[in-house]
Amino acid sequence: MTAEVNIDLKDYSYSVIVGNKNLDRIGEIINKTLPDTVRTFVISDTNVFSIYGDRVINNLKKAQLKPTYELFPAGEENKNLLTARKFYDKLVEHQMDRSSLIISLGGGVVGDLAGFVAATFMRGVKFAQLPTTLLAQVDSSVGGKVAVNHEKGKNLIGTFYQPDFVLTDVSTLNTLEKNEIISGMAEVIKHGMILDKDYFNYIDNNISEILDLTPTSLIQLVKKSCQLKGSVVKKDEKENDYRKILNFGHTIGHALEVITKYKKYKHGEAVSIGMVYNCKLAYKMGLIDYDVIDRLITLLSYVGLPTEIPKNIGADQILEAIKKDKKSYQNKVPMILPTAIGKVEISNQWSEEDLKSIIK
Ligand SMILES: NC(=O)c1ccc[n+]([C@@H]2O[C@H](COP(=O)([O-])OP(=O)(O)OC[C@H]3O[C@@H](n4cnc5c(N)ncnc54)[C@H](O)[C@@H]3O)[C@@H](O)[C@H]2O)c1
Repeated sequence: MTAEVNIDLKDYSYSVIVGNKNLDRIGEIINKTLPDTVRTFVISDTNVFSIYGDRVINNLKKAQLKPTYELFPAGEENKNLLTARKFYDKLVEHQMDRSSLIISLGGGVVGDLAGFVAATFMRGVKFAQLPTTLLAQVDSSVGGKVAVNHEKGKNLIGTFYQPDFVLTDVSTLNTLEKNEIISGMAEVIKHGMILDKDYFNYIDNNISEILDLTPTSLIQLVKKSCQLKGSVVKKDEKENDYRKILNFGHTIGHALEVITKYKKYKHGEAVSIGMVYNCKLAYKMGLIDYDVIDRLITLLSYVGLPTEIPKNIGADQILEAIKKDKKSYQNKVPMILPTAIGKVEISNQWSEEDLKSIIK
């Protein structure tokens, strides 16, 4: 079983091809979609390449796509300009040009960094993603945000740059650590919560198969999440307004990450807590019934995601961190609040008092 999702962005449209064992199709897909490609340059991290590198390189060689590869040590701390610079040096050294294709093989860190390099090298070269974490497959490979971190903040240096295609192999998730799967599930559940009640129900009804990494349910999951995210990006590619709904759970989640210095929570875990508190805020404001919170908490807990702000973190600390958020304008950040499962609104109407009271 395979699935193909068209991310419809006019001149920048592209396909996300989802399947099991898709890594073995990379050469065939390049020759079909980008037939003028002369050479390929794979960017990966040391972890992912040690598992999948040979397979991808051999496949590219067989397809006469003259592959070269360069690696960087895995980790968010390496998603920076220094690493990007090393890749520019290597691209020049290997005489890559605009007929070359940069391929990212890895999670969101690799995709963001390789995408940033592809967007900026020679004012933009062809780019394809082979995402290997759940987060990258359902979220970061769609939408064209590419970036590196600055010491003062995450993703501060970046742009929008859509790939030429995304080739997703759900079987790569079998080697991913369980906590990475759990963390990625927060974004999947987010897609159901903000956009599609049927999808939320699908996740809820099939959660055991999904967590067991059954290929058919994973393909269905990745396909649906990419379709939903794609539909948002189509309406608002550059995040002028509507795309902000994808930040559901992220404002409070980001505050928790900052307060705990990015050490206590994986991103998805912080988002999970953030989604619950956004729901509590919506309940306090009379936008939803308690049943919505109940269903969300039950599902998140089953997956193994946290749902509560720890007692040692106070409401004031959270509010202060929210005000410093890069999305803050005049000390106020819009909150994405549910009005039902599958529906949200972007609200500036929330009050600090309400937020404090739900945190207490
Ligand atoms: N561009 C976007 O729209 C967007 C959206 C969300 C997140 N992001 C970015 O994504 C990044 C996080 O991505 P992530 O969660 O994928 O983390 P990651 O890329 O750091 O991967 C997590 C870990 O898993 C390892 N790994 C990856 N795939 C593996 C596999 N199949 N088997 C074994 N190990 C594997 C990696 O080496 C790494 O150690 C952040 O930098 C975040 O800013 C971007």
